[in-house]
Order: sequence, then C-alpha cells, then structure tokens
Amino acid sequence: MQKSIAIIGGLGHVGLPLGLALAKVGHLVCLVDINQHAVNMVNNKELPFLEEGALDILKEVIGKNLRANTNRNALKEADIVFFVTGTPVDEHHNPRIQDVVKVIEDYLPYLRKEMLIILRSTVYPGVIELIDNLLKEHFSCSSSPITASAPTSPIKLAFCPERIVQGKGIEEIFQLPQIVSATSQEAEEEAATLFSTVAPKIIRLKPKEAEVAKLMTNAWRYIEFAIANQFYMITESQELDFYRIFNAVRDDYPRAQHFPRPGLAAGPCLFKDTMQLSAFHKNNFFLGQSAMLVNEGLPVFLVDQMEKKLGGVGQLKGKKIAILGMSFKANNDDTRESLAFKVKKILKIKMATPLITDSYLKDKDNLPLASALEIADGIILGVPHKEYLSLKISKPYVDCWGVWK
Ligand SMILES: NC(=O)c1ccc[n+]([C@@H]2O[C@H](COP(=O)([O-])OP(=O)(O)OC[C@H]3O[C@@H](n4cnc5c(N)ncnc54)[C@H](O)[C@@H]3O)[C@@H](O)[C@H]2O)c1
Repeated sequence: MQKSIAIIGGLGHVGLPLGLALAKVGHLVCLVDINQHAVNMVNNKELPFLEEGALDILKEVIGKNLRANTNRNALKEADIVFFVTGTPVDEHHNPRIQDVVKVIEDYLPYLRKEMLIILRSTVYPGVIELIDNLLKEHFSCSSSPITASAPTSPIKLAFCPERIVQGKGIEEIFQLPQIVSATSQEAEEEAATLFSTVAPKIIRLKPKEAEVAKLMTNAWRYIEFAIANQFYMITESQELDFYRIFNAVRDDYPRAQHFPRPGLAAGPCLFKDTMQLSAFHKNNFFLGQSAMLVNEGLPVFLVDQMEKKLGGVGQLKGKKIAILGMSFKANNDDTRESLAFKVKKILKIKMATPLITDSYLKDKDNLPLASALEIADGIILGVPHKEYLSLKISKPYVDCWGVWK
C-alpha cells in the first residue's frame, strides 16, 4: 500500500538512497533537508554525490512520486517521518546526543501523534528511549517503560538502522535484511510492513538491542581493518613483503578468505561508531580503542615508508609527494574524515610539499593526475580509485593497498 513519507536529512548519504528506493517501489516521498543547493540539484535531476544506480531512479521518479524541499510544512501530509541526520562524536569521542535530540525538537511542531516516526541515524544506546519520552511529553501521554517484554509506548516510534555501504546504498537496500525495532507493537508492525516493500528480510529486535547491533556492525568492520593494518605494519617494518605473506595465507585456505586488505580505514561512520560503543561500555572497549590506535597510526607509518624510500630520516624535507586519491573509499567522492588528509598533514610537518590529486574531488588544490605524477619526487596511494589501478609508477612509491605489485 502506498505511503506518504517525509525524510528529514533526505539529501544526505543515507537519506537520498533510502528516498529513491522507497519512491522506486511506489511510495510518495518528500526529501526534507536544510541544504538548499542539494535540494535544487535533486529537483533538477542531478545527484549531490556519487551513488551507484541512483541517477536512473532519480530521473524516473522526480516530480512524480519524489520531491525535495527545505520547507518543513512538507511533513504535514506524511504518514511516516524518517530522521536521518548526522550523529557525530565530540572531541572526547563521546556521542553528541544533543544533536539528534535537537533536530527532533525542531520538528516537533510538525509531527502528529498518529504518524509513524522512524529513526534511521546510528544512535547511542538509550537514545530511542530518550526520544520516546520526549515525544510522550510533547503529546502529553502517560509514561511507561519500553524495556518491558511487549513494547507499550503510546507513541509510534521505530528505530530501523541503516547498514548500507557508502556509494552502493540503493543496491544494498534491496539486498540486505532490515533490522526493525520500535517502542510499541503497532509501530513495529507498521515499520516492518514498510520495509518489507524494499528489504528481502526483516529482523526484529528491541530498541536498545538494535542500537547496539548497529554499533557492533561498524565496530566489527573497523577492527577487521585494524587487524589487516597491524599485520601490514608488522611485516613491512621487518622488511618483509606483506602481500607475499597475505596471498600465501589466503591461497585456497577457506578461513582466511574474509581477511581484508590494509588501507586507510576512515569515513564518517566506522571510527565514530566504535567510539560510541566504547563510551557505552564506560571506555572499557580495549579492542575498539586499539583498532583506533592502529588505524589512525597507519598514515604516520606510510609517511615513514616514503621517507625510507627516499633515503631515510630527514629526506622528505623539500620533496614533492603526490597523494593519489583523497576520498575515504575507492571510486567515491566522499572525503569526510578521510585519512589521506592526515597523510597530507604529516608530510607538511616533515617539511615536504604534498600534492593532491583525485579524479573525484572538486578542490582548487586538486592537480591533474598526469601533472602530479610528473612533478612528484615520490607517490603515496591514498585510495585505489579505478583510474590508478593500471598506472606504471617509475618513482619511489608507497602502496599499502597492494594494487601496483
Ligand atoms: N554514510 C553512510 O554510509 C552511513 C551508513 C549507515 C548509517 N549512517 C548513519 O546515518 C546518519 C546520517 O549519515 P549521512 O552519511 O547520511 O550524513 P550526511 O551528512 O550525508 O546527511 C545528513 C543530511 O542531513 C541534513 N540535515 C542536517 N540537519 C538537518 C535538519 N535540521 N533538517 C533537515 N536536514 C538536516 C544535512 O543537510 C545532510 O543532507 C548518521 O547517523 C550515520 O552514522 C551512515
């Protein structure tokens, strides 16, 4: 059955793929966002960022059952309202819970009690209960605990976390099971029915279980990358060739097929969600904290490797070092929290001149690839965009991704 859906934060990396997927299956979707530029782009059939498969759907649905708007009055017609704004951590790596609460407070005058409200952002455990209470107060409902075996809130609030991989959101929304949790049975049923129109399978949890499940999903991935990065640093610092060992370990050995390659493990989610899980466990998440030390230490290691290749300590001074790829993942234009910028910063501290080049980046300092390769004294592969895979590099280089071997 067609639903009228508003998505707050609908022009973001999670909101837009979700809106497109829901419009594709026939729902009436309004993307509500404060980013006027992105709203204009989408209404003009343009994407504000790269997302596989998104443009074709956008062209098919915009102006029909999909629209984008900065006007909050767009919520008035909605049966279902999603919140998908950012949920960062602060400078002490603690969750900024007030950010998500503030957005909901801002929209309270536009919400109606009979609406299904779905949180899609990744939130710190307990936030759904907090928001449930906020909504109960707003709608003057009596309070009841949501941790009871049958959820009984008078509010229709669901938490359905997003687990897509950036850039492939559309494909994954239709492929991945969807975790559904809610503070009332009615909300759980309605959310499950809605997601059944896009997801192949629904997995039901209680709200706090779902909050932790999402954080565990990202912390798991972050730790996996840290293992690969740690092994890379152990082997390479002993002058061993990591990839000879890595390939041998994986060769026809079933239990190592899942072993990721080393690389700058960054982006807006993995680090901060690992820190949220750590904060949840009173900072006693040693594996998560260690993963952070390893992953955040890799840029320093890569710059040290470059320095060694140029002749040793002090040899970076005055050298031009090209960083190929500044986004946080391959074939994507998203540079949020990318560790390639940390590489750039460390090079500057070593008095080298970093040259940045990225086929997907719109930045005044971005050099064409050919010029960067020509004038650089050394090259560090920041991220393996497809344009870099077949390059023949004739200068000293550092490639922890193992694509130029
Ligand atoms: N990026 C991912 O791959 C990914 C995957 C799973 C979960 N998440 C989670 O999803 C949430 C959103 O992440 P994102 O990457 O989409 O962030 P984003 O920054 O790309 O998108 C957030 C959007 O919200 C908009 N916004 C901010 N305040 C607003 C307001 N008051 N009203 C309307 N719009 C507002 C912004 O303009 C932006 O378009 C986070 O909790 C994140 O952890 C992200």
